Amino acid sequence: MATNKEITKKTKQFQISDISYPAAFHTAAGMYFEDIEGNRVMDFSSGYGVSNIGWQHPQMLKAMEKQLNKSNYCPPWMPSEESANLGERLANLVSVPNALCMRATGGADANEILLKSTYGNNKGDVLSFEMSYHGGTHATIGLGEPVKFNLPHVAPSYYSYKIQPPHCFKCPWGQNPNACQFQCASAIDSALQNNPNIKTFFAEPVIGSGGVIVPPKGYYSRVEEICSQRGVTLIFDEVLTGMGRTGSWFAHQKFDVAVDGVSLAKGLSSGYAALGAAIMDASKMGNDKSADDVSSSFAWTPFSCAISLETIRIIESENLVANAEIQGNYLGREIRAILNKYAEQQLGEVRQCGLMIGVDWNENPGLSMRFLLKMLKRGLMWCASWDYNTMIALPPLIISKSDCDHALNIIEDTAKEMFPKR
Ligand SMILES: Cc1ncc(COP(=O)(O)O)c(C=O)c1O
Repeated sequence: MATNKEITKKTKQFQISDISYPAAFHTAAGMYFEDIEGNRVMDFSSGYGVSNIGWQHPQMLKAMEKQLNKSNYCPPWMPSEESANLGERLANLVSVPNALCMRATGGADANEILLKSTYGNNKGDVLSFEMSYHGGTHATIGLGEPVKFNLPHVAPSYYSYKIQPPHCFKCPWGQNPNACQFQCASAIDSALQNNPNIKTFFAEPVIGSGGVIVPPKGYYSRVEEICSQRGVTLIFDEVLTGMGRTGSWFAHQKFDVAVDGVSLAKGLSSGYAALGAAIMDASKMGNDKSADDVSSSFAWTPFSCAISLETIRIIESENLVANAEIQGNYLGREIRAILNKYAEQQLGEVRQCGLMIGVDWNENPGLSMRFLLKMLKRGLMWCASWDYNTMIALPPLIISKSDCDHALNIIEDTAKEMFPKR
């Protein structure tokens, strides 16, 4: 068997990839994975919010085997029972009126389709958040935060207009979050007034890889009102927040926002297939729907659709949406208590929305990285924001109370070691 070092070396020799982990992924089950040398690690990343139902779920493996024996691929111009059922299921799960699904292979692809679809209708520019991430394709890089996050350069025409997110911990308008007038939302109104050609607001509802930035209560009601008054299409990128991650099926449902479109990927297949979905209100797509017939060769194969349908069945039968809310609240509360006890001086804040948890170290990426590595040595893997200022936990939604307690012990031991004075 090859070693961690050999696999890492070969990968770096022949691939350009963002390898930052010192060991090679080998096998996994439930909440744990093992590297090629047999080291077992509890996963608090879900592969960046992907494996929501956990690794190698037995019910999923059975469903995959059954589907493979029936059919895997089919010509994209032919309907399949699996894809018809998935379209119906998703259109009924989201709260998008007159929902029509468009087939994608992942998150960036789904967002590109939404961009094409909304442009086809309104021919306008797009507003998006600073600190957001929408994918690694040409247009989605521009929609996100290419400068701060050091993403590859794209043509200026793909830089959309940007607005600061509602980041109460470091309010860009210097307001006290308990007594503010939602200047963050009013800034959207001003941006739309100053740039009347902006016709779409493309939002990451809880900014994920930018640092788990959770909007304050009431923010999105105001945004919805502004977009509706100005006739601007409101789209949520739910690639990370969708499929139960926030403790609701979707963030637009959690925040009770009427959106015109959503993108899904990651938890849509829980990582068992490459799959994405762009879902739009048909009345916001313009007359020429053929312009949005963008299915690619690998989008929505019978195999990947069967996987997505099984993912939804597992999320429902195991009550994983409610579990994300319960365990997320527990983890958020306990992590806050531990870090306030050991690292009150250094801690910025702990932010949490369902099973999206961010520990903000107040612009101290070095500290953040040391904490991450020390947890990893104890057998717990988190991920981090692009700028490493925030440690990010996105555990699988199957996490139990005893899994949480195991992780909390590791977090407390790490805090004790890092901040030994108390
Ligand atoms: C909010 C969000 N949108 C889009 C993407 C891109 O998804 P994919 O990597 O499947 O293209 C990501 C990936 O991390 C994401 O977090």
